[in-house]
Amino acid sequence: MQNDLQTPEEIRQHIWKELGRASRDRHHAWRTPVLATAADNGLVNARTVVLRDVDAALRTLVVFTDSRSPKVSEIGKQQAGLFVFWSSRLSWQVRARVTLSIQTSGPEVDAYWQQVSQSAGARDYMAQTAPGTVCAGAANTAGADTGTPHFAVMKAQVTEMDWLELGRGGHRRARILADGWEWLMP
Ligand SMILES: Cc1cc2nc3c(=O)[nH]c(=O)nc-3n(C[C@H](O)[C@H](O)[C@H](O)COP(=O)(O)O)c2cc1C
Repeated sequence: MQNDLQTPEEIRQHIWKELGRASRDRHHAWRTPVLATAADNGLVNARTVVLRDVDAALRTLVVFTDSRSPKVSEIGKQQAGLFVFWSSRLSWQVRARVTLSIQTSGPEVDAYWQQVSQSAGARDYMAQTAPGTVCAGAANTAGADTGTPHFAVMKAQVTEMDWLELGRGGHRRARILADGWEWLMP
């Protein structure tokens, strides 16, 4: 709990500071948010992802994914998404409403791939078989690496945040927009 933060503007700045930290610190609770999106047929989908990069000035979040994963085609049809972050250290939940886009080529993707390709994580984007493919056994049967990366950068433009702070003396909640805010009943 951050009782020294009194105004939503202070809170907004602190949220972005923590998001930036989370993108650099693998132990930060906000490193692995849940991202919910709309699936086909009116269903919803949600999954854990790793927060890879954050731009507080542009209000963007970056996640890496396999370009063949179901979420990529889902986002092609419906760009609305929602990240859910919870930190027990902060006692903060942030629900960030976002507009999602996928990039598979271009200088930005090349720069991120440059980083990833040096790491063991590169294998995640080079499996022969697409994520979610039905397979015969429970073992990892993704097959040998193809040598071809199926690397995609998912960019999320934050449009609105719902911030909730749990406190022993009472909870606080605010809706934080790009150019304004309002207190909400917790
Ligand atoms: C801790 C953790 C981190 C994950 N990070 C990512 C990630 O950064 N990108 C990603 O595409 N999938 C990530 N996954 C896998 C997803 O949760 C999901 O299973 C996979 O992307 C398929 O999702 P989809 O079927 O909705 O496309 C992660 C899973 C866990 C448990």
